[in-house]
Amino acid sequence: MKKNMEITRLQTGLLVLFLAAISARSEYYSKTTPRVQLKEKVTNLHFFLFDILSGKKPSAVEVAHANITIGDQSATPFGSVYAIDDPLREGPHPNSKVIGNARGLYVSASQDADLCLVMYIDYGFTTGRYKGSSISVFSRNPVTERQREVAVVGGRGQFKMARGFAKLKTHYLNVTNGDAIIEYNVTVFHY
Ligand SMILES: *[C@@H]1O[C@H](CO)[C@@H](O)[C@H](O)[C@H]1NC(C)=O
Ligand SMILES: *[C@@H]1O[C@H](CO)[C@@H](O)[C@H](O)[C@H]1NC(C)=O
Repeated sequence: MKKNMEITRLQTGLLVLFLAAISARSEYYSKTTPRVQLKEKVTNLHFFLFDILSGKKPSAVEVAHANITIGDQSATPFGSVYAIDDPLREGPHPNSKVIGNARGLYVSASQDADLCLVMYIDYGFTTGRYKGSSISVFSRNPVTERQREVAVVGGRGQFKMARGFAKLKTHYLNVTNGDAIIEYNVTVFHY
């Protein structure tokens, strides 16, 4: 009788170990649980982007274009792709304080007479409260319109999970070489 109890206890112990082993088996996904509701905040960001194509040290360089693009007279003809590392400044003057940089790509993406860029750009901040954080813009940008809006689709650091939009205004444009200073007013929803 005592011996049987010992065996049963051993079997129970083994079963517990076996079940524990099953539940501890590692999967590539976690258990799904309801998301904790965080309070959403809204922040406005205001700065000027300097997109400089001319000179010895341009901040935007053409990295590719289609064969048919050659011969087009505009600075950014259809099919041309630019890589950028544009400074973001507090004000519109070339010696205003740099507060960050915009890095990524834009592609000239309209076959019509209007110039339309599509942007794949990360705007990172290097000073102040949002130092080390950035916002991601993926959007078309009809640059010939005086005022336009682009979509903020995400972010990093304090802007993780961000969404929002940016209103863009051309502050300065040299149509010959394409140099431009763009005013940004960003509304960003984040946690
Ligand atoms: C615009 O760009 C052209 C070509 O680089 C240059 O000759 C001209 O001086 C520029 N205009 C201004 C206002 O800077
Ligand atoms: C930026 O946009 C916000 C909201 O749309 C507005 O209240 C604010 O005055 C704008 N700032 C500038 C400098 O245009």
